[in-house]
Amino acid sequence: MVLLVTGGSRGIGKGVVQHALKDGWDVAFTYQHNREAALQTLEEARTLAPQKRCYMYQLDVRHADHVEAVIEQAVHSLGTIDAVVCNAGINKNNLAFSMSNDEWQEVIDTNLTGSFYVIRQLLPTFLSNKKGRFVLISSIAKDGMSGQANYSASKAGLLGLSAAIAKEYGAKGITSNVVVPGFFETDMTAQTMSDALKDFWNRFCPLNRMGRLDELADAILFLASPKSSFINGQVIPVTGGLDWGP
Ligand SMILES: NC(=O)c1ccc[n+]([C@@H]2O[C@H](COP(=O)([O-])OP(=O)(O)OC[C@H]3O[C@@H](n4cnc5c(N)ncnc54)[C@H](OP(=O)(O)O)[C@@H]3O)[C@@H](O)[C@H]2O)c1
Repeated sequence: MVLLVTGGSRGIGKGVVQHALKDGWDVAFTYQHNREAALQTLEEARTLAPQKRCYMYQLDVRHADHVEAVIEQAVHSLGTIDAVVCNAGINKNNLAFSMSNDEWQEVIDTNLTGSFYVIRQLLPTFLSNKKGRFVLISSIAKDGMSGQANYSASKAGLLGLSAAIAKEYGAKGITSNVVVPGFFETDMTAQTMSDALKDFWNRFCPLNRMGRLDELADAILFLASPKSSFINGQVIPVTGGLDWGP
């Protein structure tokens, strides 16, 4: 089985790449700018699962022609793709009244439009295989988070995108589901969350802690696998019970 993970060089995506290899998947993953991190992920992958194929590709999901070229290359190199985790994402936090056009557009283009480009490009492969799994990575910000109008809109948009795909292609053996992560230690949270803010969130999380990447990867990989064959159009929280944000 072959898995594609966008933004698989760091953080949550890297956790998925590593767990997928351990679970026996062949994996293609992408990065945008940080080649060093991607090379390190690739090197670790080769040590972790030397018998599995793992390829990395530079990709900016905001550009449809780039998505087309990279997915064509990945399908050619790996023979096919059975599942994709649309994980590449950014945040550019600001209050709405001072949010620039660029802050708005960059986040929507990466998190929402980029996921659509990846899904659209993979549909012919999934249709010809008569099977395929889309797993989209949202956030509890999907219900609105202060200072994140752009991010919240992009993450809410993924629910509509996934539900439409689930209805259009379910009968063709293709499923689409959304995972809603709570808080996980990655560069994204390190850059935007102080220790005091982490304490705040952990107090409200019934498990009183942030999640571990393996806990999230397990849920994502279940939805990417054949085992989830009758789960379609769903939104699955992996939040430790923290389902609210101010
Ligand atoms: N961390 C959390 O607690 C949390 C919670 C809820 C949801 N999420 C979501 O989970 C996903 C991963 O988050 P993370 O915390 O792992 O983030 P991260 O550590 O910042 O990693 C982001 C990944 O996305 C890639 N990327 C960024 N912009 C891209 C673009 N335009 N085209 C292609 N790839 C791009 C990055 O590539 P480079 O390395 O080259 O920059 C990197 O591989 C995101 O969608 C995020 O919104 C995270």
